[in-house]
Amino acid sequence: MEQNPTDSQKLTAFETRIAQGEKIEPGDWMPDEYRRQLIRMISQHAHSEIVGMLPEGAWITRAPNLRRKMILLAKVQDEGGHGQYLYHAAETLGATREEMVEALLTGKAKYSSVFNYPTLNWADIGVIGWLVDGAAIKNQTMLARCSYGPYSRAMVRICAEESFHHKQGKEMVIQYALGTPEQKAMAQDAINRWWWPSLMMFGPNDKDSQHTEQSMKWKIKRLTNDELRQRFVDATAPQAEFLGLTIPDPDLKWNEEKGQYDFGTINWDEFWAVVKGNGPCNRQRLQARVKAHEAGAWVREAAMAYAEKRSARENELKKEVQVA
Ligand code: 3HC
Repeated sequence: MEQNPTDSQKLTAFETRIAQGEKIEPGDWMPDEYRRQLIRMISQHAHSEIVGMLPEGAWITRAPNLRRKMILLAKVQDEGGHGQYLYHAAETLGATREEMVEALLTGKAKYSSVFNYPTLNWADIGVIGWLVDGAAIKNQTMLARCSYGPYSRAMVRICAEESFHHKQGKEMVIQYALGTPEQKAMAQDAINRWWWPSLMMFGPNDKDSQHTEQSMKWKIKRLTNDELRQRFVDATAPQAEFLGLTIPDPDLKWNEEKGQYDFGTINWDEFWAVVKGNGPCNRQRLQARVKAHEAGAWVREAAMAYAEKRSARENELKKEVQVA
């Protein structure tokens, strides 16, 4: 009688599939650690999308004109949809929505540090689109090649919308850089505040990253934190230079030999302080999420009540059909 494969045989088969570039699907065997890593990353990604609605959402009612208002409305709605998409992707691994939301609201789960900085004026909205969504695209186009099927497919859809977010930001920054001296100064001030938090989005240096090695081995990540960060700097620095805007990093310099930019050291004390909940807006962001969750309780209760009523009715109809 054929023996059931041992776990080590299953792991070997799993890693062979990964090495051959196959996608792992929800019903496939996977190591518990692979599942855990993905639930961690995908749920925190979803939290980031939902919390990421807050800094920009605050400016929808203060947009300078109807066109900007409509674009920002669409962008913020997109981010909410990305969050739902990603929560669903995490649910395919066995995580429940309740657990994930609870982890966010109690401060147990992380979300991207970048959303714990304040948006002080309208120029921030353009710079966030250019820098924050620009960094997100670098990360998410990489994740579109992730070995876990539902995550990589979710990324394909999300990246399409993210490129709209990036373009609308770049359009604004170009307009302000080529506008009045006041507009250019506002854009420069926003870059000074958002540049380093955007670099921090890619996570700690590879040597300090506790998850990167395993994530690369199982092709959850296809590029490391530092590789993605470098690609972002190399793509963005020339854009700023072209517009006559300054990147707030005196060590930023093109390295002809390496064919990439050298740049300064990130303030890792600041990074970890923000990640650990002590950033400028961490408390405000969580309070807003808790308030929204509480305010939405009646909607969830009504939807659950309707679903229960509907399934009870369907069961009654089934019984009637069986009897007839
Ligand atoms: N903010 C908060 N926490 C961070 C972080 C950041 N910028 N960078 C790293 N961390 C955390 C990690 O979550 C991990 O903590 P944990 O074990 O408690 O989860 C710890 O710091 C160690 O970092 P690692 O580098 O070892 O962690 P990862 O291998 O997970 O790499 C990551 C970090 C690059 C953010 C990776 O998790 C990732 O690619 N996640 C998916 C994409 C994502 O979440 N992007 C966030 C931006 S959201 C967004 O882009 C929305 C767009 O519309 C703007």
